[in-house]
Amino acid sequence: MPLTVLDHALAAHLVTRLRDRETPPEQFRPLTRALTRILVTEATRRLPTRTVTVRTPLEETAGVEIAGDIVAVPVLRAGLGMLDAVLEMLPEASVGYVGLERDETTAIAASYYCKLPALEDKTALLLDPMLATGGSAAWAANQLTGAGAAQVFLLCVVAAPQGIARLAESFPTLQVIAASLDRDLDDRKYILPGLGDYGDRLYGTF
Ligand code: PRP
Ligand code: URA
Repeated sequence: MPLTVLDHALAAHLVTRLRDRETPPEQFRPLTRALTRILVTEATRRLPTRTVTVRTPLEETAGVEIAGDIVAVPVLRAGLGMLDAVLEMLPEASVGYVGLERDETTAIAASYYCKLPALEDKTALLLDPMLATGGSAAWAANQLTGAGAAQVFLLCVVAAPQGIARLAESFPTLQVIAASLDRDLDDRKYILPGLGDYGDRLYGTF
């Protein structure tokens, strides 16, 4: 399974600000959007393009445009914090939603909502900032591949080794782009060092 961990000074700076327990929701949200722009830039690096002609104020020249349809799929809640940045960069993308919540004691994710547009032959960008056990991402990736997506990228802020291993076993072609690969999970399946509960930090639900 292809895994890209960002190697970028600005991305590392933004992740550090997100990790900081003193960063309040009103800063956490724009930091999430800024980091998502870098994740999108990396995910779209090798998307198929087609040649087009463009007229500059001076002359006509050859240019490129991204070929093929893109579907962004945030995993509720935390993935919603990434959606605006994706749509700013890819305004023609359509959007699907997956609602998943981990049980507080077992850390097993259960689905409470799923609404997806047509995915056949399209590129899907699955948005979930935290890849911990991998249960949530696996459930969502299963929906996207089952619906016929041509390729699926998972964009996350922090990934744990356990989540990467779980996805690699079941989704050999899934392309994971993470801003950081962290060390471990704790007893409650939170990422270490991590940054805590992403949804709570985005939305102030402490
Ligand atoms: C968080 C996070 C991921 C999931 C990752 O969501 O946003 O979706 O946990 O954990 P996993 O890899 O072990 O499945 P959570 O279940 O806390 O829901 P919330 O965003 O609604 O708070
Ligand atoms: N979900 C989060 O929001 N944070 C973690 O560390 C693990 C799962």
